[in-house]
Amino acid sequence: MNPMRPRTYRVFRFLCLVTALANAGGNVALLLFHEPLYRFLGVPPPADRFAFAAVSGFSFSVGVLAFMIWRNPERSLNLLVYGAIAKGLYAFFTFYFGFQGALHPFQIGFGVWDAAYTVVFLLFALHLASPDLARLNTGEVLPGGSVPRTRRALLLYHSLSGNGARAMQRVKGGLVAGGYAVDEERVEPVETALFRFPFPSLWAFVRIALRAILRIPAPVKPLRTPPDHDHDLVVLECPTWFVGMSAPLESVFQDAASERIVKGRDVAVVNVCRGLWRRTQAMTVRWAELRGGRVVGVRACPNPGRDPMRTWSLFFFLAFGEPGRPRWLSPLLTDPHLSEESLDTLEAFGRALAQRPAVSTSAGRERRAS
Ligand SMILES: Cc1cc2nc3c(=O)[nH]c(=O)nc-3n(C[C@H](O)[C@H](O)[C@H](O)COP(=O)(O)O)c2cc1C
Repeated sequence: MNPMRPRTYRVFRFLCLVTALANAGGNVALLLFHEPLYRFLGVPPPADRFAFAAVSGFSFSVGVLAFMIWRNPERSLNLLVYGAIAKGLYAFFTFYFGFQGALHPFQIGFGVWDAAYTVVFLLFALHLASPDLARLNTGEVLPGGSVPRTRRALLLYHSLSGNGARAMQRVKGGLVAGGYAVDEERVEPVETALFRFPFPSLWAFVRIALRAILRIPAPVKPLRTPPDHDHDLVVLECPTWFVGMSAPLESVFQDAASERIVKGRDVAVVNVCRGLWRRTQAMTVRWAELRGGRVVGVRACPNPGRDPMRTWSLFFFLAFGEPGRPRWLSPLLTDPHLSEESLDTLEAFGRALAQRPAVSTSAGRERRAS
């Protein structure tokens, strides 16, 4: 294994080996020893021995597929997508028959395993398909483009509950410490009555959530920043809404007029979230690039704590409109805001952005050529 690979890559690859051994080895063991094992666990014997052998064979072949991915991940992007579909289908049918009461909890456990691996395979595919993001996520800040250095930065963001706004204030602090003048543009949805926090009603939250799941755009008010603005750097901040960009920020980029904000300029991307940032980051970066920006740095900031309590804490925070509620549960709830450590990292990011070198003309030519 190459020790120079980012840790995320090594973790994903290791997980592929784990499921390769579990699927391939586990199914051979099941075929050979299911009778004593099932008797010991109290699992009813297979009603249809042919179906049992066929499912075990299918699951074994997915283990072989995972082994092939482990051997050479870079050349296995299609296998990862195929593996995610296979595991997703297996999980779906397991849960379907599980809910019908046709399966023992031992068998439902296989469905949980495969559901988790559907996500792992998709995330690994995303990671491999975006080597540039893997590099940026090591914390590197790339040299800037040939845009004249005015030492002025524009922060563009939409923040519902204030978490992202706080993050941007710390990036701003770092930029100012590095000698930049900073302007801010907060993206404002047209439907101000709906997109505000605390949510006006639980129904408003459900509507925002459903619209986010269906990826329905949230029209935004025209930006105040003029087309000929003189900022050499634009910092975008976007929270995760249902495993993707928040609707208001995505709306900005769905409009081709957003070119005037980022085209030809250096762009930095900050994402805040409960815990899922990879897809949001990839979307924000690709939109910025599509509109002509040159992405020089990214920072992803999940909230502190561990799941599942972090997810529950977010849910309660969104429902009650303030952290620490309901009071009787507060000792278990995690903070739905970024930790001081994350905020410090963002301030350092601002300083690093202010100090980013300008790309030399020959390096710029090489980058364009590649
Ligand atoms: C409608 C909605 C959907 C969300 N979905 C996700 C999600 O899928 N994954 C995640 O990690 N966080 C999710 N979050 C949490 C936000 O990303 C997190 O609360 C973030 O701090 C919000 O930033 P803001 O306060 O600047 O708006 C969601 C929040 C909202 C309001």
